[in-house]
Amino acid sequence: MNFAKEIRRLAAEKGALILAHNYQPAEIQDLADITGDSLELARKAKEAKEATLVFCGVYFMAETAKILSPEKTVLIPRPEAGCPLADQLTPSSVRAAKEAHPGSPFVVYVNSNAATKAECDITCTSANAADVVRSLKEDTILFGPDANLAAYAQRMVPEKTIIPVPKNGGCPTHHQFTVRDVLAARREYPDASVICHPECSPEVQLASDLVGSTGYMIRRSGEKKEWVILTEKGIIHPLQKKYPHVLFHGIDTAVCPTMKLITEEDLYITLRDGVFPIQVPESIGQRARLAIERMIEASV
Ligand code: 13P
Repeated sequence: MNFAKEIRRLAAEKGALILAHNYQPAEIQDLADITGDSLELARKAKEAKEATLVFCGVYFMAETAKILSPEKTVLIPRPEAGCPLADQLTPSSVRAAKEAHPGSPFVVYVNSNAATKAECDITCTSANAADVVRSLKEDTILFGPDANLAAYAQRMVPEKTIIPVPKNGGCPTHHQFTVRDVLAARREYPDASVICHPECSPEVQLASDLVGSTGYMIRRSGEKKEWVILTEKGIIHPLQKKYPHVLFHGIDTAVCPTMKLITEEDLYITLRDGVFPIQVPESIGQRARLAIERMIEASV
C-alpha cells in the first residue's frame, strides 16, 4: 500500500489536521500539515479549525493540544511515546516545593504530565522560558523538571532567583553532549558555528555560539554557511529542507527513541480507525489549561 497517499486521502476525507514535531522521522514530517517546535505546535493546535488533530510527537505534546481544545478529538499514533523528562516531576514534588517556598510560583516545562501541570502556575517551552520567568512579578521562582533549561532561564534573567525542582532533572538525549564534543566539533569543522538546545548542560550552552529551541534553530540557520547542531538529529531534516545550500553537522547518537516510534503505517491506522484518542479528566484539564494559557499570553 502507498501509505503516504492513503494518509493524505484519509486526512482530507476526515477533515483531520496532522501536526508533527521537528524531531519526528523525516517521512512523518513530510506528511504533516504543520511542523514546528513545541510552542509553535501548541499555538497551531489551539487555533486549528479542524475537529480532529493527529499529533505526531511525544505524549505530552498531544496532551497539551487536548488540554487547550477539549472539544477536539486529539489522536496520537503511538500513545506509549513518552518523554523521559515528563516523569521526573510529580504533582506531589510540586506541592512539596511550593510548601517549602511559600509565595513562589512554579514554572513547569511543557515536557511534563497534565496532572503535574495542574499543580503549577504557568508552563513554558524552551522557546519562551526566559519570557515566562520575566513575566512573573515574584523574585524567587520554582522551575522544573529540566535543570539545564532552568540554568538557561537564570542566565537570561539574572535579576530573579530560579530554583530547579528536582535539582538534576534532564533529558538524556541532550545531557549526553559535553564541552569535549563542542571542542571536537570545532576542530573537525573549523568554519562551522555551533548551536545547541537549552536542554544541554550550562557548560555546553556557554561553549556554543547560539542557544535556542528547535524553532529558533530553523529561524537562525540561514545566517551562516555551516553549523554543528546539538539537539535531537531529526531537526537536520527541516533544516536541510529549508536551507539546501547550508551544511549541517548533526550528532549521530543524538536520538530520542520515543520521538522515532511513529511510522507511516501507524499514522495510516490512526486516521483509518480513529486511534488513539487522548483523554484528560476535566478536573485536571481545567487547571492545566490555565497554566498553558498563561504561558501563551506571556510569550512574545
Ligand atoms: P522544542 O520546544 O525546542 O521543540 O523542544 C522540544 C523538546 O522536547 C526538546 O527535547
